[in-house]
Amino acid sequence: MRVLVTGARGKVGAAAVTELQRAGHEVTATDLGAPVSAAPVPGAAHYLQADLTDAGAVHAAVAGMDAVVHAAAIPVPVNHAPHVVFSNNVMAGFNVVEACVRWQVPRLVNLSSEAVQGAVFAERPQLPACLPIDERTPATPQDPYGFGKLVIEQWCDAAVARSELSVVSIRPSWVQRDADDYERNLGPIIRDPGQPSLGFWSYTDNEDLAVAIRLAVEVPLTGHEVVYVAQPDNATNRHLDALVATAFPDAGIEIRDSSEPAQGVATPRSGIDSSKAQRLLGWSPTRSWRDVLDDDGRQR
Ligand SMILES: NC(=O)c1ccc[n+]([C@@H]2O[C@H](COP(=O)([O-])OP(=O)(O)OC[C@H]3O[C@@H](n4cnc5c(N)ncnc54)[C@H](O)[C@@H]3O)[C@@H](O)[C@H]2O)c1
Repeated sequence: MRVLVTGARGKVGAAAVTELQRAGHEVTATDLGAPVSAAPVPGAAHYLQADLTDAGAVHAAVAGMDAVVHAAAIPVPVNHAPHVVFSNNVMAGFNVVEACVRWQVPRLVNLSSEAVQGAVFAERPQLPACLPIDERTPATPQDPYGFGKLVIEQWCDAAVARSELSVVSIRPSWVQRDADDYERNLGPIIRDPGQPSLGFWSYTDNEDLAVAIRLAVEVPLTGHEVVYVAQPDNATNRHLDALVATAFPDAGIEIRDSSEPAQGVATPRSGIDSSKAQRLLGWSPTRSWRDVLDDDGRQR
């Protein structure tokens, strides 16, 4: 398939390009930066420089594609002014969806976020009634990043209602790229699991996420499906029930199906349930923080 990957120089987009190329797809990569070379780089995906807030650039990039993976965004609300996060992400997402409809692209894989649920970047604490989070959990984001992601998902609903486009929106939790990432991000949680975690001790391995993205490009389906994607285990050695009891003792959070461990997982389960992604996409994550970190959260 001819696949366009946006945000291709970012953490998630770069891994998606590699995974799609490995599977034999013809990939075009696009991002904000200048090309590294005017000549084709052997083995590298064709590169297109584009700012996705520019509709013309998006239409030129999307035309003729069999699938688009939309991974471009400002990925957190904390490093830019709120209106910059919202306008960049929503305008880029709007343009990509609109171009997919107009150019009759069959499949869009939209990188959404766990932030759609709303706890992780909430300005005033907002905890779910029930854990693990799954697609039934209400989406009530307070922040410009999570709210923008929800708007794009709703624009995807509208797109599948008015065209033949099919969409998979993937809501990953905190993505970990390499051993340094794992140690920096998850090390403190592993060492102090009793601290409240607004991602509910979930995390996502970047290479497993790339496989989920490729499967979402390839799998036959219609309409707009939304899936959470996270590793099945949590970023501690403690059971979810015990973590919630320690970190949120008065919140009254109900634990769904509380017998540990989760089906098919030998280790304590995540605060995000990805079983829909496993079922729908045939995704079977293989990696864990335990592959790279010891029980003290340091690199092995
Ligand atoms: N990293 C995470 O933990 C995480 C978690 C959940 C969801 N996500 C989502 O996954 C996607 C990828 O995130 P990431 O971690 O790779 O982020 P990243 O910052 O590493 O990469 C994002 C890329 O998008 C590009 N980009 C941003 N605005 C653009 C624009 N207007 N036009 C063209 N390119 C633009 C940037 O240049 C960058 O290369 C994003 O949609 C993000 O919201 C990330």
